[in-house]
Amino acid sequence: MLKLAILPGDGIGVEVTKQALRVLEKVKEVYGVEYSCSEGLIGGKAIDETGSPFPQQTKDLVKQCDAVLLGAVGGPKWEKAGSVRPEKGLLEIRKYLQLYANLRPIKCWKYLIDQSPFKNEKVEGVDLLIVRELTGGAYFGSRGTEIKDNIERAFDTIEYNEKEIRRLVKIAFDLAGQRRKKITSVDKANVLDTSRLWRKIVEEEATGYSEISLNHMYVDNCAMQICSNPAQFDVIVTENMFGDILSDQASVLGASLGMLPSASIGEGPALYEPAHGSAPDIAGQDKANPLATILSVAMMLRISFKLFDAAKAIEKAVDIVLKRGLRTADIWLPRDTCVGTCAMGDAVLREIV
Ligand code: NAD
Ligand code: IPM
Ligand code: MN
Repeated sequence: MLKLAILPGDGIGVEVTKQALRVLEKVKEVYGVEYSCSEGLIGGKAIDETGSPFPQQTKDLVKQCDAVLLGAVGGPKWEKAGSVRPEKGLLEIRKYLQLYANLRPIKCWKYLIDQSPFKNEKVEGVDLLIVRELTGGAYFGSRGTEIKDNIERAFDTIEYNEKEIRRLVKIAFDLAGQRRKKITSVDKANVLDTSRLWRKIVEEEATGYSEISLNHMYVDNCAMQICSNPAQFDVIVTENMFGDILSDQASVLGASLGMLPSASIGEGPALYEPAHGSAPDIAGQDKANPLATILSVAMMLRISFKLFDAAKAIEKAVDIVLKRGLRTADIWLPRDTCVGTCAMGDAVLREIV
């Protein structure tokens, strides 16, 4: 029996998690996957109920489970200056479970190609994986705010040590070995010392992977190349903040941020979540695209539970639903049928056979 911790979080996190769980329930019926779910608090809702964005009960829950499914956290309600923020809960759970590698696969979905803002011939064949470092860099370095001589000042520090880089880079090389055997390491080594260390460690690790071709790219250039020639990329490996920014940008190659799932792996039980946030602009309106979260469940079945057929069945069901022309608003064109979050969930679970 697999033990899952479910952390819906805030805003559309709650709506998309609900649909993903319905799909999982259907997988259980069809594939006999036995699991139990326990729900926990994270983010803004956790602050409201316990004062902490990652309370002790949730820590205990996730430590004893096999995998975590998370919706999203955050929202305007918790954005007041000086108060604790929901996003801190997300950073804490990643650090607590030592989930240092975040995998964000982006592909051009055949039936969504016209929804992409890019020319069809540019995005055709796009299939890339961003391997983002998740527990280091500016998100976790020394930081602070102070007033000195009447001038307010703030700082965040990008910090990395060789161990943090090496363990992440190894994962990226291993994953590239299972794909098209090409890695682009993205840094800012023309300016930053952390990037120079990054590049050195990547070079050292590359010697153990002679079958994989490696190139280095500066992050500003990479942002441009993701638009101008996205099909060149197989695996992109990069530090935390670069990966955060580049993955939202690259998600558009797959038509929408609402299509981008993610898996965070490392030492503790892996965590699966859509790459998007709580989308306060559409929360509570049955408008959110649940497919990123549904596809995150497929990643969970494949990576944590090695249930490859069940994972494939979900991905195939998503493809069929898209083929049938069902679309949430973020991926809709006038020739398609616009459906809400629940109806999209219904449609996917009908196709799981
Ligand atoms: P966001 O990802 O929530 O939304 C960006 C835009 O994309 C919005 O227009 C939104 O409507 C749209 N969008 C996102 N997901 C969608 C979906 N599934 N279907 C349809 N449209 C979708 O980013 P934001 O607006 O910058 O941030 C909102 C809040 O979410 C903030 O508090 C932020 O900190 C938080 N956030 C949380 C996570 C997370 O929990 N992993 C990730 C990113 C942002
Ligand atoms: C993400 C989000 C988070 C991040 C925020 C909400 C802390 O943007 O998961 O991509 O920057 O990692
Ligand atoms: Mn992000």
